[in-house]
Amino acid sequence: MNRHLTNIVYEKFPCQVKVWNDSSNLIESLVDVLESRLRLRLTEVAPKPLGLATGRTMQPIYMSLVLRLQSWSLIDLDRLLEGWCSFNLDEYVGLKCDDIRSYASYMSSCLGKPLRLAPSKMRIPDGFSTEPQKEATLYAEQLKSLGGIGIQLLGLGENGHLGFNEPPCSPDTTCRVVSLAASTRKQNAFSFRNNLQLVPASAITLGLKEILSADEIHLVVTGANKADILFSLLHDSASDKLPASWLRRHKNLFLWVDYNALSKMIAISSSS
Ligand code: GLP
Repeated sequence: MNRHLTNIVYEKFPCQVKVWNDSSNLIESLVDVLESRLRLRLTEVAPKPLGLATGRTMQPIYMSLVLRLQSWSLIDLDRLLEGWCSFNLDEYVGLKCDDIRSYASYMSSCLGKPLRLAPSKMRIPDGFSTEPQKEATLYAEQLKSLGGIGIQLLGLGENGHLGFNEPPCSPDTTCRVVSLAASTRKQNAFSFRNNLQLVPASAITLGLKEILSADEIHLVVTGANKADILFSLLHDSASDKLPASWLRRHKNLFLWVDYNALSKMIAISSSS
């Protein structure tokens, strides 16, 4: 971990900053933390649900987490899976859960199948519901009845969204149906054969309120495509214009970043 860069980032965005030279070191260190939190769950009577995210950033994290969990003793792993309860952030409206492009399919291939997790233990909003807003309300109620999120994993959209909370977005928003920004549909078109027409226009997402209520949040920002938005996140004060900026209010936030994502900040601070 780079202490010098960690301090620079911390001055701009005070939280538990973790700066890594490359994403594989970052992933291993993050998985160390996740593994220790999951071990702790074995000792808790009613651990709160895990908050899970999708996107390309999360894929190698889940891959590494699966390997780590598969090295546990069968007894511990069985207990972990038995007590598993996770809530995903979001889902596209209009896709069936077995549609390969849905986040339900993503979660099933990244975690569900490799860990043999019962689908009922991994909650994801039903994007194919005939009444998506009702589904969003129900999803929020289910989460609330289980005490809200314990540990929340987050990626960062290139426009600063969290989940699918597109800008502008206030910290009081709750689980709802949202229209997707044109830039988000473009960012995610890779899952739809790069055909923008096929990318759903709306989604169900947990709101910033539910996300910010998590006990512990891990925001992971990797890759040069995130350099611009990470620069804004580190330099701008909290506002609706940048949904992720509301994370500044959170008391237990971990910010995991690699050099590529920090490249704009590094370039500007070394030229000044
Ligand atoms: C997607 C998801 C977010 C995800 C983000 C980053 O649109 N809805 O939950 O964190 O955008 O995605 P990626 O990791 O592919 O850059």
